[in-house]
Amino acid sequence: MIFDNVQTAPPDAILGLTEAFNADTNPAKVNLSVGVYQDAEGKTPILETVREAEKHLLQSESSKSYRPIPGDAAYTRAVQELIFDDPSLADSGRLVTAHTPGGTGALRVAGDLLSRIHGQVTIHVSDPTWANHDAVFRAAGLTTATYPYYNAAAFGLDFDAMIAALEKIPAGDVVVLHACCHNPTGADPTPEQWEQIARTVAERQLVPLVDFAYQGFAEGLEPDALGVRTLARHVPEMLVASSFSKNFGLYNERTGALSIVAATPAAADAVFSQLKTVIRANYSNPPAHGGSIVTTILGDDGLRRQWEQEVAAMRDRINGIRQTFARALDERGVNLSPKGNDFITRQNGMFSFSGLSRDQVERLRREDSIYIVGSGRINVAGMNEQNVPVICDAIRKVTGS
Ligand code: LMR
Repeated sequence: MIFDNVQTAPPDAILGLTEAFNADTNPAKVNLSVGVYQDAEGKTPILETVREAEKHLLQSESSKSYRPIPGDAAYTRAVQELIFDDPSLADSGRLVTAHTPGGTGALRVAGDLLSRIHGQVTIHVSDPTWANHDAVFRAAGLTTATYPYYNAAAFGLDFDAMIAALEKIPAGDVVVLHACCHNPTGADPTPEQWEQIARTVAERQLVPLVDFAYQGFAEGLEPDALGVRTLARHVPEMLVASSFSKNFGLYNERTGALSIVAATPAAADAVFSQLKTVIRANYSNPPAHGGSIVTTILGDDGLRRQWEQEVAAMRDRINGIRQTFARALDERGVNLSPKGNDFITRQNGMFSFSGLSRDQVERLRREDSIYIVGSGRINVAGMNEQNVPVICDAIRKVTGS
């Protein structure tokens, strides 16, 4: 029997919490774990532009035949434009893109590709980082390591330690950087710091792999791409794993992309051929529906403008609820950092790295059915005017404030 002695695997650090949340019978339960946007009513809406695009696709689609291994050219070109906004790079022959099943799919394909063409490489992730990075890259056969990123005592980026560590990484190794809305800390480099990161990465001949899952959720679609674009100006080679889960709300359509910049068009062609063999041996070709939605919206001036407004509305709600959360803690005399709660409004994106301990997180779940990732990462996009008081009362209790 091959299954009789199989050990039970631990639940996933993020999605496992949603499983536990779904099984929780407490009507007052709150899910602040997985990075999924919720509106003021606690719903994860389908964007209006997505509905419009779907109506259009229902009328216009004539086949469900396979897509090309790297996806449709119209989709991958739209991805390149949104990320790099650089027609000269897109036309140079140095940039190739494949449509992948979500951002996680892009990371896994990147890992498989690196493992195939550059097997001895170590891939360096920030400490802390998204709870799934390590598992994805190790599953691809890569060795992982960490570089310092966050100063827990100061509730902010530990930039000097980060640069000092990057300066010691051997040439040719891969460094995973979060383009914006760093997951889980919400602490991003400034434009000046991105310049320094890009210069260091270029001087050390490191290969950046940028995880770009939250474009539009920090400051806007354009400013959030500044880090990627700064890197692209400095380094000859890079990879970008991007996702439309959040900014198009296409979570379950698994809509992402892997873009690769190579030093020459010939190198890009060779890498693209390898990328296609990696994809073919994995999921063969991408799921089409999410990509068709994105292509339809980005290819129509009116829909695109409306979509930009929808992204801005999600971003504004998150920033507003950060203020509500910080204020509600202040009103209860709860200080999550020694310098108060202002750090909550300085963080970018969906997450607030709260500083709550594992024990406190565990008590919030056990006693009040409030679900937060074990690292203390709170999805503030799951908060609203109704649940903030309940959440803050529970936090006051577990922090003993
Ligand atoms: C998260 O960090 O919660 C999201 O990226 C969703 C996921 O797949 O973990």
